[in-house]
Amino acid sequence: MKDVQPGEALDDLIKPYTIVTSSDGKQSDAMTTVWASQVSFDPPMVMISVGKKRKTHELIENSGEFVVNTLRESQKKVADYCGHASLKSEDKLKEQNIEVQKASKVMAPLLKGSPSALECKVFSRQDCGDHTVFIGEVVAAHKEEGTPVGLFKNDMVMPGK
Ligand SMILES: Cc1cc2nc3c(=O)[nH]c(=O)nc-3n(C[C@H](O)[C@H](O)[C@H](O)COP(=O)(O)O)c2cc1C
Repeated sequence: MKDVQPGEALDDLIKPYTIVTSSDGKQSDAMTTVWASQVSFDPPMVMISVGKKRKTHELIENSGEFVVNTLRESQKKVADYCGHASLKSEDKLKEQNIEVQKASKVMAPLLKGSPSALECKVFSRQDCGDHTVFIGEVVAAHKEEGTPVGLFKNDMVMPGK
């Protein structure tokens, strides 16, 4: 193998393509997130890595909760919007008419149409450079028909294709 810059090899990681929703009870937000993973079976736990300047960061710090929503192919436009618009004043969900439904155990909403959603309460947080890794215990989970997608570099990848 030849030596490369870390970024070149990191690009080879295939990531889950998700939207993390958050809420402090007054305002809600949705952020496209690919730095996400399961980290424990029992109890079920996941991690997400959130840039410190994101509105999502503020809402998770304030509420101690978040939801990881997986994505299906047809939700690409929602993911593009929630990944690039980042004005802290803006309400992405309302402005784009992104349909949500109430979660059962947290304030953050579930994205309608996602193949699955994991409601999480923050178990711990780790400072990681310009991001914070939030580890969440999954307190409720939901599923619909459909296959979730992943991301490789800038391309959506689909299991089985
Ligand atoms: C494909 C894609 C993946 C992203 N993954 C992450 C991520 O894992 N963590 C993160 O903090 N930002 C990630 N971002 C950037 C945020 O989605 C973006 O800054 C977003 O506008 C932040 O929203 P907010 O300020 O409303 O929280 C990603 C963006 C794209 C397009």
